[in-house]
Amino acid sequence: MTLTLRATALWLAALALPTVAAAGDATRAAFGKLPDGGAVEAVTLRNDHGVTARVITLGASLQSLTLPDRHGKMADVVLGYPAASTYITQPQYFGATVGRFANRIAKGQFTLDGKHYQLPINDGPNSLHGGTKGFDKVLWTITRVSKGPAPSVTLRHVSPDGDQGYPGTLTVDATYTLDDNNQLTIDYRATTDAPTIVNISNHTYWNLGGEGSGSVLDDVLTIPADHFTPVDATLIPTGEFRAVAGTDYDFRQGKPIGRDIRDGKEPQLLQGHGYDMNWVISRHKAAKARLVARVADPHSGRVLSLYSAQPGLQFYSGNFLDGTSVGKSGRIYRQGDAFVLEPQIFPDTPNQPAFGSARLDPGQTYDNRIVYRFSVEGAAH
Ligand code: BGC
Repeated sequence: MTLTLRATALWLAALALPTVAAAGDATRAAFGKLPDGGAVEAVTLRNDHGVTARVITLGASLQSLTLPDRHGKMADVVLGYPAASTYITQPQYFGATVGRFANRIAKGQFTLDGKHYQLPINDGPNSLHGGTKGFDKVLWTITRVSKGPAPSVTLRHVSPDGDQGYPGTLTVDATYTLDDNNQLTIDYRATTDAPTIVNISNHTYWNLGGEGSGSVLDDVLTIPADHFTPVDATLIPTGEFRAVAGTDYDFRQGKPIGRDIRDGKEPQLLQGHGYDMNWVISRHKAAKARLVARVADPHSGRVLSLYSAQPGLQFYSGNFLDGTSVGKSGRIYRQGDAFVLEPQIFPDTPNQPAFGSARLDPGQTYDNRIVYRFSVEGAAH
């Protein structure tokens, strides 16, 4: 009897212990202040393998992701800043949710139901990633935090009618879920009260060797796409679907990112200062998420497999990281120190009838589920 009571008491005491280090956890904390005084919060998800993903309310951004290498050594594999304010003073879209329209819209113009719309011009003559104050630069609201074997956080942003020139009130939810198969899923969903255009993606910069550890050009990238959409000098698609066969854009069998990147014979690589292009995974959105890219770091053994149902994949080789940003570990980020993979519809779709449609009507739900699956491979070097 005494023993049973004692056991029960111990068991109750264990239940009352702080849950910070427990498996399947989600903890909420302050992350610092923006230059305008706005308070940024962070939610850190942890699975039972000790993998953690930290999401901040600024831009519903993935601020850190720690992963084991082939020896079990943990490293933070996404680029970012240690302080909230630097995300505003030196914006790079690190980890950010990009919208309302990820990627470029030519001259920031489009027509919907006969009406002409003008968006902010913030990238040469074009509008990039939703305009001067896109989703990456606003504070989202945490609407749900859940613990358990697959901890998750949901953030919401309501973009008012006319925000950055886009029509319709757009209500956007971003849910990050970390499961115990070392898989991070982002679910983007949006609804509108008037016809509009939408294309939301995530802009995490990955360095599977650890952020600040140097170049990613040895990473072996596979993209299962037969075609890409070449661009003009301002990085707007020309409208052509070009076969990757025989070009530097052929990643179907997997090749190191850096193998052909200095190929001076390829004007597209010159225009983008490296890879900065949309690959055609399929002409239309698929019924469900399928593999759209795989990246393996031969040094650490870490592997990222990316799944999405979106028709396009923007692969950007961190070309404009110019040595002016100091990251979380106090190290400088330079050109080629990260890669970005953004599942989305094709750039400039609102102005390119052959690319399909970016339209969202009231009563419909936009969704983009992006799954990042992490694993390790290979023998030690
Ligand atoms: C674009 C790049 C751009 C970068 C900004 C990418 O999605 O393709 O051209 O410089 O975002 O971080």
